[in-house]
Amino acid sequence: MTNPAGIVNINGVITPIADGRVSVLDHGFLFGDNIYETLRTYGSQPFLFSRHFDRLERSARAIFLTLPWDRAKTKAEVARTIAAAGAGEHRIRITITRGVGDVGPDPESCDSPNVVIFATPFTELPDSVYNDGVGVIVSSFYRSRQLGDAKTGNLLRSVLAIREAKAAGAFEAITLTADGKISDGITSNLWLVQDNRLLTPSAESGILEGITRAVVLELARRERLEVVEGLLDLAEVDKSSELFLTSSTREIVPIVRVAGKPVGDGRPGPVSRRLMAAYRQEVGLLLKED
Ligand code: PDD
Repeated sequence: MTNPAGIVNINGVITPIADGRVSVLDHGFLFGDNIYETLRTYGSQPFLFSRHFDRLERSARAIFLTLPWDRAKTKAEVARTIAAAGAGEHRIRITITRGVGDVGPDPESCDSPNVVIFATPFTELPDSVYNDGVGVIVSSFYRSRQLGDAKTGNLLRSVLAIREAKAAGAFEAITLTADGKISDGITSNLWLVQDNRLLTPSAESGILEGITRAVVLELARRERLEVVEGLLDLAEVDKSSELFLTSSTREIVPIVRVAGKPVGDGRPGPVSRRLMAAYRQEVGLLLKED
């Protein structure tokens, strides 16, 4: 990629993204020693900023990193970055690195964290993804339960899982824990539908507790669907009539094939479609949230 569109804000200094530079001695680069959040805008407004900042604080605590900016300052800098990026919808990534240190991984050698905020153009997925659903595989890369709910940039297993899924022509992949329970998607949360019951892996399944997942849990309860959060065996997939995934950038995406095998009748099912419509409505209301 030669000239990617977008804006970067590094410690408060805003430049075109292609001009953004951090040191080769930043432990974020050397060891994946960083945490991040990805959110999107609707109507150029960051969606659920405060919930993402809550999770950033949790991730920071998990890796013993002190966030250099508080909530208000981070929010103001996100707004400044979006303003610099101009009109349209943006994908926002807030990354906090450990900062510049020695060549070895000891975090004590690092001086101060770097804050890097991207605002890049947000591209909607094609309508066919929502109307027709997508295929996934079961990843051969397992999800570790350790640091499961910390959103860190230490993602080599995810990188290899994406490569594997793409090679198989799949949109995403189901990841399992080391002992074979369903965890999540590579960069999404997973849901199974059995009758009027919604099943989703619980916190003990090594998941990142998605912001979209929390919204869908609220919606499901409001739609009077029974919700089960638990440790789920892969065999539950075969018993399900519908599957879908959720993430901030993709909302709710129906999964219609697992490893080439149709889920239910191979079309997005009624529960997924109901929740997709409810989610889009809810976005409008939640935009008022901080
Ligand atoms: N990832 N699980 C994992 C492992 C993820 O990476 C993500 C999101 C989610 C969904 O979380 P949320 O609903 O809060 O977006 C679940 C973002 C999109 C990313 O990797 O950039």
